Amino acid sequence: MTKDTLDGRLLSCAGFVRAGGVLADVGTDHAYLPIFLLKSGKIKRAVLSDVNEGPLSTARENAEAAGVLDLCDIVLTDGAAELSDLGITDYAVCGMGGELIARIVSEAPDMKREGVHLILQPMSRQAHLRRTLYNEGYSILDERYSAEGGKYYVTLLAEYTGEASAPCEEVLELGADIPHPCDEKEYVGYLITRRRALISVKKGKSLAKENTEREESLIRAIDKRLREYEK
Ligand SMILES: C[S@@+](CC[C@H](N)C(=O)[O-])C[C@H]1O[C@@H](n2cnc3c(N)ncnc32)[C@H](O)[C@@H]1O
Repeated sequence: MTKDTLDGRLLSCAGFVRAGGVLADVGTDHAYLPIFLLKSGKIKRAVLSDVNEGPLSTARENAEAAGVLDLCDIVLTDGAAELSDLGITDYAVCGMGGELIARIVSEAPDMKREGVHLILQPMSRQAHLRRTLYNEGYSILDERYSAEGGKYYVTLLAEYTGEASAPCEEVLELGADIPHPCDEKEYVGYLITRRRALISVKKGKSLAKENTEREESLIRAIDKRLREYEK
């Protein structure tokens, strides 16, 4: 991957960013996502933010080399709590653990502004992130799946509605029953990988004579979803 092309994971994130908007890329690091979107003309401005100076200076250098630095605000900050009054329409928080992303969302009141979209790409703890979003009054509008280097990734598109909800474990772990026409192959791969991991946890728990109901119920839910794709 370079700043001119994106890998499948970041392309999934880019697909959710709305044309003509202002994207804040929280934890931007190399800034590949906003640079790609600025160079293609999809977004008009970007906020590149990071908690660490090293990644932020890489982001600045990359934006300058790509000729888009004048379209960027560069902000050194923890999370997104201080990113307001910048006209942000879309927030991306990608490539971090689900717990950290959930914390960043919880602490950022500007993400609850009407019309703002969140593009969230957790590397772990997806269920925790989904639970936090639903508890705090966000709705998950869509999900996309991608594959890179033999690994599967999920990207969530969320928006604040003010209506808190508490979906079941299956939805928190595997996503709502959203059809995935454009990334069916990746979603099936994701489900198979999750199934394998659950079987391994179940085996370990069985050996330790622990309760495996949770794993069994999730495996059944995965099998049901996989059957849908076999039709
Ligand atoms: C693995 S990189 C992900 C880069 C890019 N977003 C991507 O998905 O490819 C994670 C970045 O998040 C930054 N980060 C970690 N905790 C953060 C926080 N609390 N607030 C802002 N940035 C953070 C790190 O400094 C690092 O640059």
